[in-house]
Amino acid sequence: MSHLFASTRIGRMQLPNRAIMAPMTRTRASRDGIQTPLAATYYTQRAGAGLIITEAIAVSRQGHGYPMIPGLWTNAQQESWVPVFDAVHKAGGRIAAQLFHTGRSGHSSVFGELVAPSPIAIRTGEARDVNFQSVPFETPRELTTQEIPGIARDFGLAARRAIDAGADAVEIHAANSYLIDEFLRSATNRRTDVYGQDRTRFLREVVEAVTKEIGADRTGVRFSPMSPWNDMSDENPLETYRRAAEAIRGVAFMHLVEAGGAATITPALSQAFGGPVIVNGGYDFAHAEAALVAGAAAVAFGVPYLANPDLLERFRRNAPLNTPDPGSFYGGSERGYTDYPALELVA
Ligand SMILES: Cc1cc2nc3c(=O)[nH]c(=O)nc-3n(C[C@H](O)[C@H](O)[C@H](O)COP(=O)(O)O)c2cc1C
Repeated sequence: MSHLFASTRIGRMQLPNRAIMAPMTRTRASRDGIQTPLAATYYTQRAGAGLIITEAIAVSRQGHGYPMIPGLWTNAQQESWVPVFDAVHKAGGRIAAQLFHTGRSGHSSVFGELVAPSPIAIRTGEARDVNFQSVPFETPRELTTQEIPGIARDFGLAARRAIDAGADAVEIHAANSYLIDEFLRSATNRRTDVYGQDRTRFLREVVEAVTKEIGADRTGVRFSPMSPWNDMSDENPLETYRRAAEAIRGVAFMHLVEAGGAATITPALSQAFGGPVIVNGGYDFAHAEAALVAGAAAVAFGVPYLANPDLLERFRRNAPLNTPDPGSFYGGSERGYTDYPALELVA
């Protein structure tokens, strides 16, 4: 019997299946972070997932370092999500809002200031400026000890806005080189204050701020313990993330991106967390089944869900998958967004 099609409970949510749509930035919002009506179509097409996790949404103007990503710090931004969450619910789905602060990974032309735990620039790859042009990464300003608790509060306020707009839950984005991840890993946190002596402290403050607003049973956290993307590394990922997993005990789920070989430490981190774990990174149906047998609560699919609105139905029928078009992952409109065909439209 298939495990992916079995229902499960995660926090306050009852999921009809264990296939999660992974969070994916599509950079199709307005310049001031307003979600477009087309997003309602895109997410509704994928409402068959056990849970959709939205693209990353910036919690503040300061954390809005990528062009054309959505935000959740103004009333207009909040209202732009209402039809999206509503449409997903009407289609029978569940949806969690992923919240982040871009930290050193953004570009100052988008919002005015680049901040991070330590003034260390990314040395590989390029940033995108406000006009979507590739430009060198800049050196971020080191945050003062005093201003950090205010950023944690921004996460709490954005979580409140997400729930008020109709989201079922919130995922705190502590992965993939953004601000929380920059505090966690040793390569990017060289601070000597309390936020450097305990690299999980900022994460804990964010989790406290969010759970105080919306409850631990509607809060999840995403980590990418060994992903090297954007020049990230850590002296001892197992120890760092064991502490991080312990720090978030009691939230509804922990979501692990297993890039960079992190699947090897998934069992230890799952044990440290003690709650439902979602795994992600390169999974197909067979590998997902194996992960569920091994103890994962659910499996998240990124590119497969991007290119296949009816991914679960295709798994069920063992049908071929659409070919993803990386050229339309970021920016643009319908093409490569809402026009991937469902099975019944494939000749
Ligand atoms: C176009 C694109 C955008 C992404 N944006 C995000 C994001 O906003 N937040 C996030 O946590 N991960 C993001 N990711 C990473 C995915 O969630 C996922 O971890 C990755 O695609 C690996 O899973 P997969 O092999 O199933 O695609 C993105 C990936 C892609 C392809």
